[in-house]
Amino acid sequence: MARIGHGETLTVATIEVAREGVRALNESVRSPIAIAKVPDLKRFDYLFPDLQNDPKNLLAEDAKTVQDLIALGDSMHDPTGGVDSDIPAVYTYLGQFVDHDITLEAESGKLGDIFKPGSLKPAKLDAIRATLKNARTMTLDLDSVYDDPAPRSGDLMTVGTVTPLGGNVVPILPVPGKDAFNDVPRKPPAADPRIDREALIGDARNDENLVIAQMQVAFLRAHNAIVGKGSNFDEARRLLRQHYQWVVLHDFLPRICQPRIVASTLARNRWYKKRDADLFMPLEFAVAAYRFGHSMIRATYDHNLNFPDATLLQLFTFTALSGDFPGGLPTLPDNWPIQWDRFVEGKGLRNRARVIDTKLVEPLFELTSAIGNPLPGIEARLAVRNLLRGYLLRMPTGQAVAKKLKITPLTASAIEKAAATRAQKEVLKSSGFSKRTPLWFYVLIEAAAIGKGRLGPVGSTIVAEVLVALARRSESSIFDEPGWKPTLGAKKGKFIINDLLKLAGEL
Ligand code: HEM
Repeated sequence: MARIGHGETLTVATIEVAREGVRALNESVRSPIAIAKVPDLKRFDYLFPDLQNDPKNLLAEDAKTVQDLIALGDSMHDPTGGVDSDIPAVYTYLGQFVDHDITLEAESGKLGDIFKPGSLKPAKLDAIRATLKNARTMTLDLDSVYDDPAPRSGDLMTVGTVTPLGGNVVPILPVPGKDAFNDVPRKPPAADPRIDREALIGDARNDENLVIAQMQVAFLRAHNAIVGKGSNFDEARRLLRQHYQWVVLHDFLPRICQPRIVASTLARNRWYKKRDADLFMPLEFAVAAYRFGHSMIRATYDHNLNFPDATLLQLFTFTALSGDFPGGLPTLPDNWPIQWDRFVEGKGLRNRARVIDTKLVEPLFELTSAIGNPLPGIEARLAVRNLLRGYLLRMPTGQAVAKKLKITPLTASAIEKAAATRAQKEVLKSSGFSKRTPLWFYVLIEAAAIGKGRLGPVGSTIVAEVLVALARRSESSIFDEPGWKPTLGAKKGKFIINDLLKLAGEL
């Protein structure tokens, strides 16, 4: 997929044009790029459709609500960087990687423009169902790794090489322990910024910040390592998908969600139990609950020995989607690959995720375009965008979802008490949002109030229900092989993200 800015609102046409560009390039250079099938554009729907029948379950539909949502989003600035959680920072970006494997909402721009809030109204239900398209296959199948335009050669996935700087002193030292294959594969430099050094990967968003781009590299390398143990392409893809599903279900989920809720959902899905034919990406997950990860993002990371204080802005810069390798370098310079031991559980851990609460770090209020220019107004402010997107797409309130799930909703006073600042509390009170809380914000404030370092009961239930249900229906699902256990880790039956990074030769 061609470069699409992380601030851009997508249409199916944009995605198709991007894919066509890649196909034309492949043909012109006769490169051995695998042109996989264009993923089916699948549908979104509501996990709790009956909540849509009563306006009391939604935010009030008027101009004041829109202004209040903007004020609430703007009350979420965290200029301090926030408090560390106990969760190693790798799980923030594994979370983003999972997001990019399963959901890419296209077309909501046709339903209303969140960047022109003066005329913003919730879209009609039928229009939402007919218009919204998911440009990813929604299952845990790693289409973001394997799909068009990811190049491969025989059984092996192509990995890009870093550009050597020839340095022998910090900050231009080649990162120790790393070989040359530590970038995503890319197109060559070009005058047209839309294709300039564009990552040749299944989902362009995995070149949006350097941590997720390095995660993509790790998955490509893990595939090749499995081939190195004797598997052909199909076997390696199946094994990688299964180990990835295991990591999502048994490593990621219990760290993010209440473990009791994860365990009961693994035993039985209570709320998302549609048959295959009815599979859809739940809007309450994609537009609200699963965006919890925005709060875990840090403003700075101890990235590697050269950059122990890398800013989020630098991590955007050292990608082609959100930045521009400085000096016109064709690929990632060899002083920038990540040192994963600083991000994962273990002795070397130096980066913990920011605690999940109702604040987002400053760079998330300064999003940039595909060529690194600051975006204007609301486009730049992720918190405001999430809240307005939720309004446009008829997100129920947190209280309505809690009641539906038979969970006692947080009281207005508990919500006001958990507000991150006095100003946020004032917005919650004056808008009435402490009684009817936008779902994304509810999931965050519930985590802050009662989650003890994880999502609370409503957030945990939505996230676990959806990820477990999607894993059940994935191609090569581990649920299809009763008793399936991981085989690729150091200990049979155990496999966490550290093991995947070790398999990839990255840890
Ligand atoms: C530096 C990291 C990240 C950046 C810059 C970023 C930015 C964005 C932006 C600009 C959007 C579109 C907002 C809109 O207009 O509706 C978005 C959507 C989304 N983000 Fe993030 N995000 C990041 C990390 C994460 C993480 C860690 C998670 C979850 C663990 C996450 C989950 C989501 C989800 C579920 C969506 C909706 C996807 C779709 O259906 O299209 N993001 N993000």
